[in-house]
Amino acid sequence: MCGIVGGVGPSILAAEVFEGLKRLEYRGYDSAGLALIGTGGVEVIRTACGRHSLDDLKGRIDELTPGASLVIGHTRWATHGAPTLENAHPHTDCTGRVVLVHNGIVDNFRELRAEVVSHGHELKSATDSEVIAHLIEEELAAGMEPAAALGSVFSRLSGHMALVAAFAQFPGSIFGIRRTSPLLVAEGDGRSFFASDAPAILDVATSFYEMPEERVIAIGKLANGAAGVSTLTPLAIDWASQDVELVGHQSFYEMELSQEAGAFLDTVSSLIDEGGGAVVDELKVDPYELKRLRKVTVVGCGTSYHAGLVGRFLIEHFAKVPVEVDVASEYRYRDPILDDDALVVGVSQSGESLDTITAVKGAAAAGARTLAVTNVIGSQLSRLSDTVLYTRAGPEVSVASTKTHLSQIGALALFAIYLGELKGHIYPEEAREARNSLRKVAAAIEVALERKRGYEEKLAPFVGTDRFFFIGRNLQYPVALEGALKLKELSYLAAEAYPAGELKHGPIAMLDSEAVVVALVPRDRLREKVLANIEEVRARGARVIVVAFDGDDEAATLAEAALFVPEVRPIWSPLVTVVPLQVMAGAVARSRGLNLDRPRNLAKTVTVE
Ligand code: M6R
Repeated sequence: MCGIVGGVGPSILAAEVFEGLKRLEYRGYDSAGLALIGTGGVEVIRTACGRHSLDDLKGRIDELTPGASLVIGHTRWATHGAPTLENAHPHTDCTGRVVLVHNGIVDNFRELRAEVVSHGHELKSATDSEVIAHLIEEELAAGMEPAAALGSVFSRLSGHMALVAAFAQFPGSIFGIRRTSPLLVAEGDGRSFFASDAPAILDVATSFYEMPEERVIAIGKLANGAAGVSTLTPLAIDWASQDVELVGHQSFYEMELSQEAGAFLDTVSSLIDEGGGAVVDELKVDPYELKRLRKVTVVGCGTSYHAGLVGRFLIEHFAKVPVEVDVASEYRYRDPILDDDALVVGVSQSGESLDTITAVKGAAAAGARTLAVTNVIGSQLSRLSDTVLYTRAGPEVSVASTKTHLSQIGALALFAIYLGELKGHIYPEEAREARNSLRKVAAAIEVALERKRGYEEKLAPFVGTDRFFFIGRNLQYPVALEGALKLKELSYLAAEAYPAGELKHGPIAMLDSEAVVVALVPRDRLREKVLANIEEVRARGARVIVVAFDGDDEAATLAEAALFVPEVRPIWSPLVTVVPLQVMAGAVARSRGLNLDRPRNLAKTVTVE
């Protein structure tokens, strides 16, 4: 999705804003640009070289006059108009004195475009964003101050978006406003910044602030009609600049995969006290309200949705509360039956997925209590929910999530245990024991990660295959879904996931000797059933890989390759069985010569519908 970085103050360098854009590269983009206000007015450079746009932009920074005190930058992920030079941001008005960058979609842009065209404006791009610059131009021409003009135009735009604008007559201020889409404010070393997310500016900013909605904020010099940084709520972001640097690995995907045992441990440790009790101060919902919950709904997208599917088993197991799980983009258009005995849990690594945000907002409006499980402090989801459980996975740069997935499951598990304890379904002693056993799973995850090379060797004969099926039952079905999603995202291969018992109801027709079936078969109460399903698969000639607990020779004899993971309690098994599948996705993608950090067509944070 589009990324925004803007900086103002003495000695701000286009190169610094560029570095911020570089750190937003992971969000996905296809063109990029920078603008500054120098002594001669607004200067803009833009480039549309697909994934190489930032490399190209870097080589052109010298075209900008040095010594400006205001620079804004943008990475564009095309929505309205192809990824061409004309459509790349920043955009300007007819006078060239208004310059802006935009993330999101102007839903009513057609009528607004027709309006500015009918007023004689010459539009140079096909974007919805440029229309905004011309609307602001009209307000300025009518005598409005920049902040008022921006606010007035923004109120006419429908849709979710963040906007950052600068004006030639105000070279000391940048103005921002947003609705739902991410944008934060930061300061450091006498300079002020706007950015789509914190990792972009970790090396230049020391203090971070929440950006309110629907309010024009000016950074740099105070401006008439705009609130300044002093009115904003600080954000306690404790990530360090080195957390987003690629060290010792070929890709962020592999680096973050290698960090997942630590991320999981940090998350669960932050939610367990020294005596094995729950740390509930994070969970700011009245325990009595939780106690009378009669229904939990978990919503999320992609990998977060899969964590939610695991969460369903955990909550039903420990707390005996009925749980439904839905894809956020579906849930938001349902008519769910909710009241204040219902809790809706939004799971989102970024806390900025628009689908999840709107699903949770809708649930709150229908009367439900809401809980966010997110990795990003101060994210939209964390702010709009009644309460938050933060995962402590550190920043996740890779588009394909790994370490946050395990951390989400860890947070949901601890919530499930706490709820079970509150509702009297488990004794405090059992709850303590369950928490401690969960914490110990980190060691098993680490062992599985140490086997990465071994998994890759066993997977080598399969990397040329282009048809994969993942099967598992109960807790392993979400793992199968996650394995298939990782492979799709990174390798672009056809990968399907099914509950193992469902194969015979149709999908088995697709199996032949060209197909590879990955069967998840940990030692649990359904193991025998899955072994029988593997026999069915073998009888159709398909090649089989099993993911099994150490020492399960019986499962191994049914397969061409066995990926063993350390044995943990069946209830925690998704935390370890997913590891070989994450390794597999990386290995297959690499064997196909693909860049693990730049999967095609994908964005890290999906802030459009
Ligand atoms: O930030 P979120 O957790 O809300 O993101 C949800 C999905 O977009 C995300 O999990 C996506 O499926 C990833 N690329 C998975 O690897």
